[in-house]
Amino acid sequence: MVSGKKAATSATGPARKARKLRDALHRHGYLYYSLDAPEVPDAEYDCLMRELVALETAHPELCSADSPTQRVGGAPLAAFGQLKHRIPMLSLDNAFSDEQVQEFDRRVRERLGAPAAVGYSCEPKLDGLAVSVTYERGVLVQGATRGDGETGEDITQNLKTIAALPLKLRGAGWPRVLEVRGEVFMPLAGFEKFNREAAARGEKTLVNPRNAAAGSLRQLDPRISASRPLDIFIYACGYVEGRQLPRRQSEILHMLMKWGFRICPQSSVVGSLEGCLAYYREIGAARATLPYQIDGVVYKVNELASQEKLGFVSRAPRWAIAHKFPAEEALSSVRDIEWQVGRTGTLTPVARLEPVFVGGVTVSNATLHNFDELSRKDVRIGDKVVIRRAGDVIPEVVRVIIERGLRRSAPIVAPVTCPSCGEPVARDPEQAALRCLRGRLCPAQRKEEIKHFASRRALDIHGLGDKLVEQLVDANLLRTPADLFGLSVAQLAQLERMGEKSAHKLHAAIATAKRTTLPRFLYALGIRDVGEATALALAQHFAGLAGLRAADADAIQQVPDVGPVVAAHVEAFFRDRDNQAMLGRLIASGIDWPAMPARTSAGRFAGQVFVLTGTLSGMTRIEAQQAIIARGGKVSGSVSKKTHYVVAGADAGSKLAKAASLGVTVIAEDAFAAMLRK
Ligand code: IVH
Repeated sequence: MVSGKKAATSATGPARKARKLRDALHRHGYLYYSLDAPEVPDAEYDCLMRELVALETAHPELCSADSPTQRVGGAPLAAFGQLKHRIPMLSLDNAFSDEQVQEFDRRVRERLGAPAAVGYSCEPKLDGLAVSVTYERGVLVQGATRGDGETGEDITQNLKTIAALPLKLRGAGWPRVLEVRGEVFMPLAGFEKFNREAAARGEKTLVNPRNAAAGSLRQLDPRISASRPLDIFIYACGYVEGRQLPRRQSEILHMLMKWGFRICPQSSVVGSLEGCLAYYREIGAARATLPYQIDGVVYKVNELASQEKLGFVSRAPRWAIAHKFPAEEALSSVRDIEWQVGRTGTLTPVARLEPVFVGGVTVSNATLHNFDELSRKDVRIGDKVVIRRAGDVIPEVVRVIIERGLRRSAPIVAPVTCPSCGEPVARDPEQAALRCLRGRLCPAQRKEEIKHFASRRALDIHGLGDKLVEQLVDANLLRTPADLFGLSVAQLAQLERMGEKSAHKLHAAIATAKRTTLPRFLYALGIRDVGEATALALAQHFAGLAGLRAADADAIQQVPDVGPVVAAHVEAFFRDRDNQAMLGRLIASGIDWPAMPARTSAGRFAGQVFVLTGTLSGMTRIEAQQAIIARGGKVSGSVSKKTHYVVAGADAGSKLAKAASLGVTVIAEDAFAAMLRK
């Protein structure tokens, strides 16, 4: 390992270059993962990373433990080593009611000499996996699971793959040795995305975010951990050597944040028991909208001196307690099991339930995912079942409660025909799914295809809701999305609950939707496995529809992040005669989009480096970045001698001064817009 000091005194050309790249990557990584405020496009970050990997490969002696290249995950381990915690990792006592929290506060005050009120640090209780991470002289050297509290497993390599965990601390004044503790979790969005993609590849899906986080960290192959969307919030210090810490929990959190750790943004300080209970209700109400799973809140006596006075009982501190939320599970019974046909023909079993109140809403349907899952859980009509609802996730059947002596109905068998069109279904070997292969000839798929086409992220046809689409398909007025543009006001006015005025409005909305963008249009087509990101990548790569329509699977695979399976789906979609006819009709009806700027390294801005600062009024920062990249230019986050232009929007800050001191050209937004138009 090259220590920072040595590198600084004896830096040669490549060493200096490596240090600069590492600094830039640390900075951009911190802005992106910890602050959620990237300054450069992902492509720029990837480019810096590739440069650093190449440099470290050519000069292995330059690779340091804190290099951002270490995040990608090294060679698999044979087994995890054991690590003894220098200070045991305790657990928390639980409270399940306000009374139990009152009791806790009363005991705390009594032991502290009966003050009228005690201040608490209140934090969400994250539902993930507790870990300990040790830094020496600011560099991450070791990470461990909690294990039994005394000894955990050495998961250093896996922890290093978590982008939000600094490999090197920011700021200054860190202790010589700093152990921090926190919770690794999988954000809900990442969990859902991971499962969608795994299902599309026909791979096993993760059961829930908590197990997903735990499973991801227990991989012997760090490359698997690296591929999982993990995040971490730090909530405490463990062993610390060489520096006095602040004297309050809230100040410790603040200090940790300054050193580059992610702290749960929902943490808060209150002055008394009442504040704790109010916090509990507030977080409880926000729970379903939080991007991560929690199972309660934690109250910690804020003053460290008081914590020390209170001490521990067996495995838990006397100065903290977890106030748990009631589990979001409920009992119900299965009225029926139906098969829903999705947009791409997949048959999903859905349990129709006795309505039951779970996690703030009444649930009367729950997914059983697929036939294999249904068989594994052996859910039958009439069964008593446990229903779970987590956040915004679709409610699911957790398990059946078998009541002894009670006769059950027959096991569910896989349908042989499609419940919508009656044609035989196929078992898709790729995805272990049942599938109706009739495409838009099947009414259910036709409806889903058109709903998707009109949806917000696709053509965004205002006022065309699901019920209307169903009516239009049932009335035989719509067979493909292209039929939408031929609907007359009179036809629309015939529909149930549709007046003359709303018909005019909807007709106008359909006409407005003709003006779209190529990525939206490609997404709207509903090609299997083509989500918004893939649609954007295809649009950028082919720049227009013609090139994509003519491309074969090999050419489509040249698009970044498009693999053989997706490429085959795309090719098949455009080869299909009915789809060709539909595309022809869509174009003929006047659907249109502005030309896509092609990605190029030979554009008008080739070799030019732009820095964006302040708020632009006519476009978003992403749009400006895309416009620059599309013309072959580069966008950088900081002004240097290499910068060609600083584009200054409203309220531009220190970057302007920097530009002035270096003599870099500053242009206002309108001049930039003029450059783009040229
Ligand atoms: S403090 C001595 N703070 O809860 C204090 N723990 O039952 C111990 N947890 O193993 C931990 N969020 O995994 C603390 N904000 C938070 C927490 C939290 C989740 C978990 C942690 C720990 C368990 C204790």
